[in-house]
Amino acid sequence: MQTEREFVWQQRLCVTYSTLANRMSGNPGQTERPVDNFGNSNILLKASFNPALNLRAPTPFPRKLRFVRKFFIAGNWKMNLLRDSSVALVHQLMDQLHDSQDVDVAVCPPSVYLHDVGAAIRGSRLQLGAQNVYHAPDGAFTGEVSCTMLKDLGCSYVILGHSERRAIFGETDRDVNVKLLAVLNAGLTPIVCVGETLAQREAGQTQSVVRDQTTHSLAGLTAEQMATTVIAYEPVWAIGTGKTATPSQAEEVHADIRQLLGTLFGHAVAQKVVIQYGGSVKADNANELLSQPNIDGALVGGASLKAESFLPIVQAAMKIKK
Ligand code: PGA
Repeated sequence: MQTEREFVWQQRLCVTYSTLANRMSGNPGQTERPVDNFGNSNILLKASFNPALNLRAPTPFPRKLRFVRKFFIAGNWKMNLLRDSSVALVHQLMDQLHDSQDVDVAVCPPSVYLHDVGAAIRGSRLQLGAQNVYHAPDGAFTGEVSCTMLKDLGCSYVILGHSERRAIFGETDRDVNVKLLAVLNAGLTPIVCVGETLAQREAGQTQSVVRDQTTHSLAGLTAEQMATTVIAYEPVWAIGTGKTATPSQAEEVHADIRQLLGTLFGHAVAQKVVIQYGGSVKADNANELLSQPNIDGALVGGASLKAESFLPIVQAAMKIKK
């Protein structure tokens, strides 16, 4: 088990990792290097004490860590809006998103509007996501939608295991896992949601609940598949309630998820995984949340239903990026 001190060192050293690897290899495009159990390059460990390389002293949790991951802001519209209002919303978003190249942005409308929204955003910076899927490729599954159908409509992402699906529709980690494998095999990007209830937080079970959900939902993934999977940490008590996890509460769980991913899939992979925060993200808390070193984006519910509340969240990510 990694100690806290080792973890902080890992975080600090990763910041200078790619700069250093590039400087030492003389290849500015190359950032992959063999790493030790803590995800640190052995070369880096030695070289960080070498004055000839002129490395700046590492600072705690610097923003440079982000350069290995791209911010990803997604709007989860849930069962809201109608066809006309959906299309009108994406037109408003597209008008304002020209210079957001450094941030990935997606909207996840109800499945019946995927076609219209997909047609409206085609060729733009906006990407399309679904809120759920069924794992089977086709067949007698009344009311369900397959990965192939989502791809056919131009979807890039699929939200899996949202707490509303777990609580209202009884989805288990096993269901999430089966869907996850189907989504990855279809070449779609999953957004896997995990998070504790208020009772679990108050009972001191946050870490164990989130670790369990993460481990079981991700069972059987290859390291390569993991690197392309998005995780969304969404404390259930913060969803649609106006209560947000404080930046440090959220960061603590995000850092722990990344540490768990490091144990399960290797630290180099863990550093690549985008971990979004979700739960009452708004214009006025986005900057502080997104400034945390392990928070790589947001899964936004209520505030994604209007351009004037969603765009400032994307803009907050753009500012931090710059
Ligand atoms: P909220 O929802 O932003 O309305 O809290 C987030 C989500 O459920 O993904």
